[in-house]
Amino acid sequence: MTPPPGAAGPRSNRVPLAVGNWKMHLTREPAERLARDIVRALAEVRGVEAAICPPATALDVVGRALKGSPLLLGAQTMHEGTHGAFTGEISPTMLLDLGCRCVILGHSERRQWYGETDEALARKVRSAISHHLMPIICVGERLVEREAGQTDAIVTEQVEAAVGGAGEQSDVPLVVAYEPVWAIGTGHTATGEEANRVAALIRWVVASRCGAAAGDALRVLYGGSVKPDNVREFFGQPEIDGALVGGASLDAGAFAAIVRAAAERAA
Ligand code: PGA
Repeated sequence: MTPPPGAAGPRSNRVPLAVGNWKMHLTREPAERLARDIVRALAEVRGVEAAICPPATALDVVGRALKGSPLLLGAQTMHEGTHGAFTGEISPTMLLDLGCRCVILGHSERRQWYGETDEALARKVRSAISHHLMPIICVGERLVEREAGQTDAIVTEQVEAAVGGAGEQSDVPLVVAYEPVWAIGTGHTATGEEANRVAALIRWVVASRCGAAAGDALRVLYGGSVKPDNVREFFGQPEIDGALVGGASLDAGAFAAIVRAAAERAA
């Protein structure tokens, strides 16, 4: 399946977005310190949106540290229901109560280690949208799938499933992060050109499922070993609107450099 040329909307309309995924790192004190360092490092930066997704136990303190700054607080996963007998789970209403504005959904580590399926992801996306939490939907092929030439088929299937329930009328902005699984935490990255090609495919799938306006507005992030010294390769691509950053987001200077590079992309 090849997206038609020109499927993308005018890139200038999309505000670049950089998201830090702290994964299972940092207790409250160092988490709060890092959040304050990031706020300080980004004090003068404009024209870009940035979000921090700490572990659930640090959402409260990080939320306080971000207060008064334009940085968004986000969670790394959530349950789709508002309450109930679901031991260990956290609901969208609980995230809203903590000040969350966005939530990472369907991260490959959730898929790989906790058996999250495309169907579960679709329910979570629907729930996030109905609670006005911006979903950051993660998709990406595994190495064996890439080697078998299945990248486009896998990504298409994941995006179709995830946004299937999003609907055309949503006023909650959609974000899809293209994270090739083989690039996460490995130091290997896709080339800018390859990531751009897959990003165009993602936009096209969203446009066909949710309407042209949703496709135009969709922000596609690249993720997988993004660092200050490789991020410009991705931000230079017309279809890529930002980055989902794991390891490098645990360093205030590195994350701030990535956010600044995203801001330059907008300029
Ligand atoms: P990484 O992680 O930047 O450490 O590769 C990215 C992610 O998993 O979101």
